[in-house]
Amino acid sequence: MRNTKSANGQRPIASTFQIVEAYKTIRTNLLFTLANTDNKIVAISSAEPNAGKSTVSCNLSITMAQTGAKVLLIDADMRKPSQHKTFRVKKANGLSRVLSGQAELEECICHDVARGLDLLPSGSLPPNPSELLSSDTMKELLERLALQYDYIFIDTPPLGVVSDTLVLSELTAGTVLVARQGQTTYDELQTAIDSVKNVNGTLLGVVISDMRENPRSYGRYERFQYYKAYDYSYTTSPEEAEK
Ligand SMILES: Nc1ncnc2c1ncn2[C@@H]1O[C@H](COP(=O)(O)OP(=O)(O)OP(=O)(O)O)[C@@H](O)[C@H]1O
Ligand SMILES: [Mg+2]
Repeated sequence: MRNTKSANGQRPIASTFQIVEAYKTIRTNLLFTLANTDNKIVAISSAEPNAGKSTVSCNLSITMAQTGAKVLLIDADMRKPSQHKTFRVKKANGLSRVLSGQAELEECICHDVARGLDLLPSGSLPPNPSELLSSDTMKELLERLALQYDYIFIDTPPLGVVSDTLVLSELTAGTVLVARQGQTTYDELQTAIDSVKNVNGTLLGVVISDMRENPRSYGRYERFQYYKAYDYSYTTSPEEAEK
């Protein structure tokens, strides 16, 4: 399903009947899948960058909150965060600061960014995202949040680039993988699925994004540039990180 962008090209809020229906179908499948588990925490990832993880995380969180459930979206991509831009909030106070003891959880949560939806932004870019995500503090944080929310969605970095998503596996009900038509290869997707299974994680499903009738292939050079961009964001200057 191809999203229609708004004027600024950033807001990925579903705007057509088909897209809204597609997200409702994903929601329904997820509700069935999670029905028999107490853990309602879902990580969203992909094999490679730019697959549509953040867009799916955002729209799925909004769609889930429309059922009347209390939903939290956590931007755990502490290398290339984006949810603060989508919801137009500051990212500085967020997950990284809570996990490093620099801020209290309550002061970092942005309430009602959409009806029934709260957002925990990424926080300033830390030098050690994997360590923070695999810490006991992260475990305790999710346990605490699980008492307050019906569903928690976690937007994460790509599995094929960093291990951040895998360290979350034991804390979540499972992972939804996003694959982008014309970009994600079968091999990449299979490797991502295998990596989830290798850590005894649960694959909740695969969402295909950006489906078109005439898919175009992405050149290798374009992909290479994107990987570089990802690396660059990891070493962004403190001034840039505060934007
Ligand atoms: N279904 C879609 N149709 C068209 N464009 C899309 C779709 N999903 C995402 N996009 C666009 O593709 C780009 C990347 O999407 P997004 O940021 O959601 O991907 P990501 O996997 O989170 O990327 P990153 O690896 O950088 O975190 C954005 O410009 C977004 O607006
Ligand atoms: Mg993203």
